[in-house]
Amino acid sequence: QKGGYDFFMQKEIYDQPEALHNTIMPRIHNGHADFSADNISDDIFKGVNRVIVTACGTAWHAGLVGRHLIEAMIRIPVTVELASEFRYMNPILDEHTLVVVITQSGETADSLAALRLANERGAKTISIVNVKGSSIARESDYVLYTHAGPEIAVASTKAFSVQCAGMYLIALKLAEVNNLMTDEQMKDFCDKFEQAIGTVEEVLKMDDYIKGISEKIKDTFSAFYLGRGLDYGIACEACLKLKEISYVNAEAYCAGELKHGTISLITEGVPIIAIATQENVLPKLMANVEEVKARGAHVIVVTDKDMSNYEGIYDDLIQVPATDDLFATFASTVALQLLAYHVTVFRGYDVDQPRNLAKSVTVE
Ligand code: F6R
Repeated sequence: QKGGYDFFMQKEIYDQPEALHNTIMPRIHNGHADFSADNISDDIFKGVNRVIVTACGTAWHAGLVGRHLIEAMIRIPVTVELASEFRYMNPILDEHTLVVVITQSGETADSLAALRLANERGAKTISIVNVKGSSIARESDYVLYTHAGPEIAVASTKAFSVQCAGMYLIALKLAEVNNLMTDEQMKDFCDKFEQAIGTVEEVLKMDDYIKGISEKIKDTFSAFYLGRGLDYGIACEACLKLKEISYVNAEAYCAGELKHGTISLITEGVPIIAIATQENVLPKLMANVEEVKARGAHVIVVTDKDMSNYEGIYDDLIQVPATDDLFATFASTVALQLLAYHVTVFRGYDVDQPRNLAKSVTVE
């Protein structure tokens, strides 16, 4: 079942090129998002002036990535709500609001309740779901299935990547239906999307190298993940991966927030993992990194940028293949899944079955 891998999580990390291919390629043709095989009517996207993404855990992080993309690219306002909060929020919704529910299992109790509320209040609903025929799939107006195949490990990996891909596809469709991008821009989007997916194979080839870095930080008590913009969503997800399986006390921060408190936690040797794929904030991010380096942190930078100007302010570099900044999601995510995986194996824990966690949370 594990196909020769030591753990399901490891197999599922390696499943990602195929999962992404299967989720994306049937749905992009000649620079257009084609949801006809999914029976998703264009009407649901027409006239949308606001998007609310709601989900839990890893799926919520995919929402953070989606928000950054949609707002940057097509200028429709997006909020990302934890389903456990949204369901009790008395949210303001109308027929121009598109509510996107993201879920691997399709059975998460809070996400289902959030969907039901959105349906009751007259919003349009679409869910991004991995498990066919699940409750959330059945109760949404439309479903965009992710084709990741079964995910067995408790810690989600391939499901996250395809959930993000689902958000990119929805962004493209929203743009197309509402004339928010030209044909040329949509073609460019598809080219960049495909190119970014191709980088995942390259990152998987860095497995041994990333394992070597993992060994250096394996005995740490705590760790911090830093990112800005799109990279903050990636930081949150990478951080959750590490803490849920390795039991390292990890936190993700928008890098600019550090000096508002957290920097007091940085001491000699504490690992800081900085995700640096966004050109517009790169100097700012690296200035934040320099501050933690000066306090003795062990700095690991994950980037697709040229770091020659920043030598000396990091200890380890995970140089992933370059992509357009808005498509940097996939390469850095996979690199950091590998990091969490190897740290956990070094610490001797059961990667697939972390304590106290269930694969699907069907109670509130
Ligand atoms: C973390 C993880 C969880 C789930 C969350 C939502 O690795 O898997 O945080 O993402 O419980 O589950 P789904 O996506 O099934 O709604």
